[in-house]
Amino acid sequence: MTPPIEIPVSRIPTSRLEQIDFNNLEFGKHTADHMLIVEYDKGEWGAPQIIPFGEISLSPTSLVLHYAQTVFEGMKAFKMADGGVSIFRIEKHYQRFLKSLERMCMPAIPEDIFKEGIKQLVKTDTAWIPSTEGGALYLRPFMIATEQRLGVKISDKYLFMVVTSPVGPYYAKPLNMKIEIEYVRAAEGGTGYAKCGGNYGASFLPTQLARQQGYDQVLWTDAKEHKYLDEAGTMNVMFVIDGILATPPLSTSILDGVTRDSILTLASELGIVAEQRRITVDELETALSAGRVTEAFGAGTAAVVAPIENISIRGKEYPLPKWNADSFMMRVKKQLSDIRTGAVADAKSWNTIV
Ligand code: COI
Repeated sequence: MTPPIEIPVSRIPTSRLEQIDFNNLEFGKHTADHMLIVEYDKGEWGAPQIIPFGEISLSPTSLVLHYAQTVFEGMKAFKMADGGVSIFRIEKHYQRFLKSLERMCMPAIPEDIFKEGIKQLVKTDTAWIPSTEGGALYLRPFMIATEQRLGVKISDKYLFMVVTSPVGPYYAKPLNMKIEIEYVRAAEGGTGYAKCGGNYGASFLPTQLARQQGYDQVLWTDAKEHKYLDEAGTMNVMFVIDGILATPPLSTSILDGVTRDSILTLASELGIVAEQRRITVDELETALSAGRVTEAFGAGTAAVVAPIENISIRGKEYPLPKWNADSFMMRVKKQLSDIRTGAVADAKSWNTIV
């Protein structure tokens, strides 16, 4: 085994930690003291460094600013019950980052820079991990194209960085969702499965329009027919229909969510059958009308499990039943939290202990 790479740490002179109210954390508003940065040029990665969080300078002609060659990840580090620190499913996040990079013609980040870099950054800013219920240090690795050029081309230069942010629960309240049948998030063959910036920018207008109509988020449908359900806002979507957990299967238009995968993996031990299958809007509407949909929720790293309280289909409102601690979504949320904090055994080796 090769020894872990040594990453030099240049420490911030005075921590900003005292300025943070850990009981009122707005998602992603505050960043921890340090960040990781490494450059790629002429086919090679340079030496990663951990430095105080701060601004970076970019040329106005950096390719990322014009042609959106940028991808990111969203992961979390947790305070454990025994005082230790765990990072959840770093390998799965690394593999997905590689897939996103490949789709956007960007160079692979070496495993040791990604994993050791993140571990050492989390170690440097351990004091920033909230110990509040549902709290975590959100980790945001990302890569941008920095070559200076206005011609449309694949960049020769990149910056890989990791910034972190202490966070509480993403959504403060249950979601009122509208099924989107006009706009599209992602088409088959496009970039929907990649975590690239453009997917998110393109979702702003339909989401804003839905908000103006009183909804919190949209439920995306397929690009060809608006017939099948794809995702929920920035999360995967899951339903309990006739007592069975159902979620759309992965495709090139759906993100391979780490929380989605974790929930599907835990389903059987929590006593529920899980199906990955195409779900039509019509099927959902029929099942909602008949009271056969007992749960609907979004699943994602930031939100973990976000209960849906209402779904609007072509202008008709379908309220969901109220959930409680025995609902599958709440039981699986607790199980995930217990694994991350070490309250139950990490049988799947999902935790990386820092
Ligand atoms: C995540 O759940 O990590 C996301 O990427 C959602 C959003 C914060 C971009």
